Amino acid sequence: MSLETSAHGIPFRIGPDPVLIRREIIDGGPGLESYRNVGGYDGLIRAITKISPVEVISEIRDAGLRGRGGSGFPTALKWEKVATHRLSEKYVVANGSEGEPGSHKDHFLIETNPHQILEGILIAAYAVKARKCFFFIKESFPEGIRILKAAREEALKAGFVGDRILGTDFSVDIEIFVGPSAYIAGEETALLESLEGRTPKPRPKPPGYPTDRGLYNCPTIVNNVETYAHVPHILRNGPDWFRSRGTSKSPGTMVFAVTGSVKTPLIVELPLGANLRILVEDLAGGAAAGETLSGFYPGGPSFGILPRKDFDVSLDYDALRGLGSGIGSGGIIVLSDQDCPVATAAEFSRFYEVGSCGQCPPCRIGTENLHELLEDVETGKASRETIVRIKKVAGLIKGRGNCGLITASAYSVETLLKHFPEEIDEHLATGLCRRNHRTPHYQNLATSGMLLQGTVL
Ligand SMILES: Cc1cc2nc3c(=O)[nH]c(=O)nc-3n(C[C@H](O)[C@H](O)[C@H](O)COP(=O)(O)O)c2cc1C
Ligand code: SF4
Repeated sequence: MSLETSAHGIPFRIGPDPVLIRREIIDGGPGLESYRNVGGYDGLIRAITKISPVEVISEIRDAGLRGRGGSGFPTALKWEKVATHRLSEKYVVANGSEGEPGSHKDHFLIETNPHQILEGILIAAYAVKARKCFFFIKESFPEGIRILKAAREEALKAGFVGDRILGTDFSVDIEIFVGPSAYIAGEETALLESLEGRTPKPRPKPPGYPTDRGLYNCPTIVNNVETYAHVPHILRNGPDWFRSRGTSKSPGTMVFAVTGSVKTPLIVELPLGANLRILVEDLAGGAAAGETLSGFYPGGPSFGILPRKDFDVSLDYDALRGLGSGIGSGGIIVLSDQDCPVATAAEFSRFYEVGSCGQCPPCRIGTENLHELLEDVETGKASRETIVRIKKVAGLIKGRGNCGLITASAYSVETLLKHFPEEIDEHLATGLCRRNHRTPHYQNLATSGMLLQGTVL
């Protein structure tokens, strides 16, 4: 598994048993021809010519595919709700926003194999009988927009998109929608607001669950880019084949990005259930020279920080949930003993404060409070009383907004207090940051500088 660099400057390794990131496609480029050469669009052809929409959903259910955008929600359950909804107008939306700090997989999948994602979206549209799909991509990713538009044109010319696809009754279009780069635009209902031409602000849920009242109040599937990318492989090879990788409750592979204080930040696809230490030490080279590993955010800041003792965790939904965390969208940020976990959490608390859309008062005020209080701890202005206040604010705001950002902001701080008490004590006692406020470098995996993560507007 040698280290390579993508055409757009992203370091990666091809994993041991790859599904989504394959040598033939990396070498052949993102065009239709190289995708067709490895059986691309055969899953769609099989779906629309040989099996019913209900059978498609059954195969996705049997495969046990879970969303790769953060929550790990069973994909088939979402599709079934939309497919069986009483309204006949339905939509399929791909969430290509990828704003979680440390997450880079969707950018990589878009750049290297856009057809794989488009095929997954088309199969979803067939499964729920949607006639219109949207691919949301942010304006700060111009290369991705260009690649996706070119792929859509190729698919249109080849007859995989458009009217009466492959001579069947199935007709569908995919629109590449260029949306705002704000972090909050990745929340599924904010994304739908944006598609409808408004400012991206999350809708209250209930009633605004996309599967019930989604785009233009119609039932809508919103899935992450990687979730769709897995779909063609399931339709082509079957649910049992999909389950032959991963664990029984977390089947399949996932694309991880490892950034922060490691020797070799990179993208790699591994079966779910892989060991984090092997990923960080063997594939990402371990901590930078002269440093030791001290902690990690397994799923970006929204799933909190875990300490060094948890480095042997299995990368799957349940094992991480058991540690009070989550796999998120696979953006693993590693800290070394030279990074300050307090400064890092303070940086993320600022990210949430600026990223909040501000419509829920507990979030607007709470994220600001948490940021100010954490900065006091970081800069040595805090006392024990400050810690009591942080705990109180975090406890009060959790679950009190229209979306998960508010809970993520509280969670990020609570896990710091839980797992790094010595570092907190040190800041309180000395009024100093022994690590000189250093934070891990997670923002930009591409040498080309193309990926600006966690953009807030
Ligand atoms: C503040 C916030 C930002 C989010 N950003 C993203 C994102 O950039 N990409 C993504 O796929 N999901 C994001 N999500 C999760 C989506 O709301 C949604 O759960 C996901 O797109 C569903 O896809 P999946 O079931 O395939 O995982 C975000 C959620 C929140 C609360
Ligand atoms: S919780 Fe925060 S980010 Fe989410 S909708 Fe409310 S104010 Fe906006």
